[in-house]
Amino acid sequence: MGGLATPRLAIAVARAGGIGMVAATGGAHRLSAQLDQVDAEALAAPVGVNFLVPFLDRAALDAAAARAPFVELFWGAPDRELVAAARAGGALTGWQVGSADEARAAQDAGCDVVIAQGVEAGGHVRGTLGLIPLLGEVKSAVDLPVIAAGGIGTGRAIAAALSAGADGVRLGTRFMAATETHAHPAYVDALIAAEGDDTVLTTVFGTGWPDAPHRVLRSCIEAGEGLGAAQAWTPDWPTAGYAGVAEARALYAGQSVGAVRGRQGAEEIVAELVAEAEAALAREPRR
Ligand SMILES: Cc1cc2nc3c(=O)[nH]c(=O)nc-3n(C[C@H](O)[C@H](O)[C@H](O)COP(=O)(O)O)c2cc1C
Repeated sequence: MGGLATPRLAIAVARAGGIGMVAATGGAHRLSAQLDQVDAEALAAPVGVNFLVPFLDRAALDAAAARAPFVELFWGAPDRELVAAARAGGALTGWQVGSADEARAAQDAGCDVVIAQGVEAGGHVRGTLGLIPLLGEVKSAVDLPVIAAGGIGTGRAIAAALSAGADGVRLGTRFMAATETHAHPAYVDALIAAEGDDTVLTTVFGTGWPDAPHRVLRSCIEAGEGLGAAQAWTPDWPTAGYAGVAEARALYAGQSVGAVRGRQGAEEIVAELVAEAEAALAREPRR
């Protein structure tokens, strides 16, 4: 979740029993300070670190490898050397993939786990297949645990992904309106108001990160076009303190956005999701 994935949010998720993720967006020094925050907590569940490969800081990767139980990479051909560096300190290492070929490459590069990201996902989107067909192809392609991502916003959807063979699930959009994020209030309000068909896959917010499809709320493209030459089509999303037109920034959202109904604490979100998934699975037990 990029800069939205702060230690505060990751700690709250881990406190509730999920695997929280911190985004390594600011270099080794900043990441070390973030991991200090995590280490100060007595957490039962792990907190991992996510890297976007085009912006990867090698010193930050080494810092994560030495301290985090889980390191994950996204966007770029799975790279044996990066995976070896991530695993050097004993961290389990994952790669988020958008196709069976990419999953195979992640396995060949030495990954312990892959995250299969369906085209429904919010943020940057790697592949073109919907989650359920992708999951089937990835499960057949690799002999690794497969985490399902993309379009999952409810406990019922979690149950569906697990029933379709996922070993775990990842949610992004559902946590973007969590009280622990520092997203701009206009962004949060837009997420709460939106339904799944209000999102669109585009490349328009590509200044500085071109040719990288991303799913956003359609409204932010319209707002950006309305600004004319004043619009900066950069991939940044609006933080709480953003003083410009927040509605015209990249308002990332997955097709799961209809499940975002209000501001909720991350621990409450996890508890609600788990209870709902368990109830759904109890109705249709897994074999
Ligand atoms: C605001 C936002 C930022 C994201 N940033 C990252 C990122 O930095 N690294 C990454 O691996 N995935 C990132 N993703 C994608 C998620 O890992 C995941 O694939 C996606 O959120 C799943 O779909 P969902 O949003 O419908 O839950 C981001 C998603 C969102 C919504």
